[in-house]
Amino acid sequence: MSKQVPRILLTGGAGYIGSHTFVKLRQAGIEPVILDNFANSHPAVIERLARITGAPVCLERGDVLDRAFVEDVLRRHAPAGVIHLAGDKAVGESVAHPLKYFRGNIAGAISLLEAMEAVYLPVGPLGPPTLVFSSTATVYGDAGTGPIAEDFPRRHSNPYGHTKLVIEDMLEAVQAARPEWRIGVLRYFNPVGAHPSALIGEDPTGTPNNLMPYLTQVAIGRRSHLRIFGGDYPTPDGTGVRDYIHIEDLADGHVAALRTLQRTGESFTVNLGTGRGYSVLEVVNAFVDATGCPVPYRIVERRPGDVAQCYADPSRAMQLLGWEAKRTLEQMCADAWRWQSRNPQGYASGMASAASSQATEKENGLLVIG
Ligand code: WQD
Repeated sequence: MSKQVPRILLTGGAGYIGSHTFVKLRQAGIEPVILDNFANSHPAVIERLARITGAPVCLERGDVLDRAFVEDVLRRHAPAGVIHLAGDKAVGESVAHPLKYFRGNIAGAISLLEAMEAVYLPVGPLGPPTLVFSSTATVYGDAGTGPIAEDFPRRHSNPYGHTKLVIEDMLEAVQAARPEWRIGVLRYFNPVGAHPSALIGEDPTGTPNNLMPYLTQVAIGRRSHLRIFGGDYPTPDGTGVRDYIHIEDLADGHVAALRTLQRTGESFTVNLGTGRGYSVLEVVNAFVDATGCPVPYRIVERRPGDVAQCYADPSRAMQLLGWEAKRTLEQMCADAWRWQSRNPQGYASGMASAASSQATEKENGLLVIG
């Protein structure tokens, strides 16, 4: 690998957001090293990333909670920065198993930050500690009806959102204590869709919590119908309104965030959304129009914890990062459907390809696959 290519550590890089970000980083001339324990992702992703990008993937298989392991990975690969995506993100699961979320997300972030402090401070040839952190619009709680800006009050409404809020506060304290840190906090709205190749996409474990993967499983016949949670919200058609953003736009946002940190050295927090809210029924109709697939649905009672509306004011991301979402709801639906229809069981559909991938076991557990 060329020494000139800057490296980035991508924790959770085999996951839905991580895998799409991996492709965009490589296309931007940045070499990502994936750190993943496959707790929330599938090993088959690695070989598919190699196929999409045409080069072997550098994988460090392990847990971000293992600080010694993370520090060793940082010292061996000497990345110019870290994009931290590893963690759990199912709202419902976080209510049922809060300690799993507090430990995995918060202790995992602490482990990574301590390892980064040990490696990048005092600032040496590697440059200052540079971190892009995956946060979420859930930190805003119920923000009423208008577009949400970054200075809106934060309020957690479930343990998952609470962990992201605590980590944001930790990052603020770390920054205050050591101004050398360069930190970009990205608050995701609702990522949906898949890479146009349909080699990678969203592959939730078990019953999907989120709308789009549930919808595509109905369309492919794995589920009988979509339950629409609530038809009596104060919205144009009574169903919940969200800011759906194409995963490719979201991944572009990570590259723009990293480049901005490296260019300006200034930390920031931005929303990654389109600024346009769509109701559940609008998404269903857009999906049917884009794919021609019927989607049987039934409107049922509201889901506890849901808010009526949640969509972004994305103007700060444009001002600071020069980034804005470009892809349409129709493209989100078409790409989500292409992924699902070519991978009816998600990555499990392609077990053969995973088994056939040539993994070269290197010393210290480093796998190079593809
Ligand atoms: C969207 C809309 C539902 C499923 C969550 C997390 C957030 C982020 C994205 C991580 C709502 C409705 C859903 C279904 C439905 N995750 N719906 N039937 O709740 O806005 O956000 O996922 O960062 O942090 O909170 O996304 O896709 O679950 O719901 O009617 O089977 O679809 O009521 O209006 P949500 P969602």
